[in-house]
Amino acid sequence: MISDIFENNRKWVAACLAEDPHYFDRLSRGQSPGFLFIGCADSRVPANQIMGLEPGDVFVHRNVANVVPNTDINVHACIQYAVDALKVQHIVVCGHYGCGGVKAAMQSQDLGLLNNWLREIRDVYRLHADELDAIADEDARYRRLIELNVIEQCVNVIKTSWVQRRYRAEGMPRVHGWVYDIQNGLLRDLEVPFDKILDRIRQIYHLD
Ligand code: CO
Repeated sequence: MISDIFENNRKWVAACLAEDPHYFDRLSRGQSPGFLFIGCADSRVPANQIMGLEPGDVFVHRNVANVVPNTDINVHACIQYAVDALKVQHIVVCGHYGCGGVKAAMQSQDLGLLNNWLREIRDVYRLHADELDAIADEDARYRRLIELNVIEQCVNVIKTSWVQRRYRAEGMPRVHGWVYDIQNGLLRDLEVPFDKILDRIRQIYHLD
């Protein structure tokens, strides 16, 4: 119910102020989050809660299946602002097991406009088809595609001029790939080799 939301909101404000009377004064002065989180729009993957962070701690961008398409001005505006203006130290691409977007991309089906969006994931499949086709178990293949999608979207973040320029000037931000497991609530670090990817892609996508 919509009315419940407003009641919840008033209770939340009261609880915050009971803990710290200056809570909203402090937040209204500005933000300097340490992280940019790029995650799936799935309602079960709330960025702040799974990271144990408070308002002001993380700048968040979410879309279907946590992708970073070259032509998506929305995600790239978020990355540029987070890197150049907010000076985040870490960029996290966070996928999740059980992702409906990745599942849909594995089906041979016409999904309308979603075809164009999920093409990003079908491209990831094509890049890693040898590895994925060798996995006989469909669920294991699905989980691996979720992981490979995160890694490829990290590569897309590292391709941007903002990340390359600031990293070379200041040694930040670093890019991380994580997967959230909806079944147990745990985050897993895929240990994406940031330095290796940066060196490799600068041979082609050198922009700074
Ligand atoms: Co998802």
